[in-house]
Amino acid sequence: MKYLNGKYRVESVDIGRISKKFGTPAYIYSYEVIKNNINKFKKNFKNINPLICFSIKSNSNFNIIKIMNSFKIGADVVSLGELKLALKAGINPEKIVFSGVGKKREEIEYAIRKKILLINAESENEVIEIENIARKLNKKVKIGLRLNPDTDARTLKYISTGKKENKFGVSLGVFLRIINKFRNSRYLNIVCLSVHIGSQITSHKPYEKMIKIVQATINRCKYNFEYIDLGGGMGIRYGNEKEINYKKYLNLIINFLKNKKSKIIFEPGRSLIGNAGLLISKIIYIKDAGTKKFVILDTGMNDLIRPALYNAKHKIIPYKRSNKSTNKKHEFVGPICETTDSFGVLKKFQKLKQGDILIIKDVGAYGKVLSSNYNLRPLGPEILVKKSKYKIIKRRQKISDLI
Ligand code: LLP
Repeated sequence: MKYLNGKYRVESVDIGRISKKFGTPAYIYSYEVIKNNINKFKKNFKNINPLICFSIKSNSNFNIIKIMNSFKIGADVVSLGELKLALKAGINPEKIVFSGVGKKREEIEYAIRKKILLINAESENEVIEIENIARKLNKKVKIGLRLNPDTDARTLKYISTGKKENKFGVSLGVFLRIINKFRNSRYLNIVCLSVHIGSQITSHKPYEKMIKIVQATINRCKYNFEYIDLGGGMGIRYGNEKEINYKKYLNLIINFLKNKKSKIIFEPGRSLIGNAGLLISKIIYIKDAGTKKFVILDTGMNDLIRPALYNAKHKIIPYKRSNKSTNKKHEFVGPICETTDSFGVLKKFQKLKQGDILIIKDVGAYGKVLSSNYNLRPLGPEILVKKSKYKIIKRRQKISDLI
């Protein structure tokens, strides 16, 4: 994705063409960027040959999941909906793991019947529930158990999942108790230890601590796990953040795997899809409010809630570049009736006018999936670009769909 003669392109397609044809707002994805992300991820961990399960919660577009499947990527799902989507997209059930603290009976039953690789349980009561269902179905079920390693992922407070005050997984004490209680279960086979400490992690350090705790846990329960599921969480560069040092992370895992036969599972979401998506929007009005200008867009927190919800920063760039800039502060806001409906303030920006197209970057992960119809606004389409071709992979909603 880059400028060519002052106009922004996704692969060989000019954004202006897409905005004219499909309108705004719209999410646009690049096939090439997704492919590169997958290849980079595979290359980074080639030495340990992990099972890579794309975390569908980050982007559940059917066509995106089909692309993942075409590169032999599995799926990490957290609901019956995501599980059905993964299966429909052709993902082999033996490459599907099911996480989440609140799986209902029908979800567990469906997962067992479809013979997915693992259900990662997150509480003792869930393990009991899975055993009951397995007994009823007279099946022996493979499960994982999620450890809460009480590790600070040093990421945004709201997306940290591995501290003891977070609802995810079980503490070391409970973990040991469950292992001992179900070691000889007729209906359960605990084959996996899983962890996930948070998202948008930018250093290998939290992973180092996490792996230490995983090792200490294994030492305490004297148990061989066929799989160690290390979750996802690898951060991307929205601004000046660093990427994690993959070499160091890999070495930590290689050391950990010495004298073990366990297979590593990863559940990346953001690192595979985050930078592959853009949100395009048109300026409806520009309102001069004295000390700053409000740039009022036709997209808001209903299409992309990350800035409003986590104070996350996404770069905003113009579709057409010019060298005329204004020094006034610009606040980019949406049309939603909430003060938090803002994509951020920039000290200066190039000169803008009503009708200009702006691009909000790096919205491939946790963008469309977190959107809503707040203010009864129909959602825009999703478009996939591949070289000079593009196609709609989700149509624009109509107001009549919502009424
Ligand atoms: N595995 C588990 C168990 C998870 O809970 C998550 C994300 C992932 C894998 C994938 O993590 P990733 O590789 O994408 O970091 N909505 C927030 C992020 C929430 C992450 C939830 N769990 C955001 O927009 O930043």
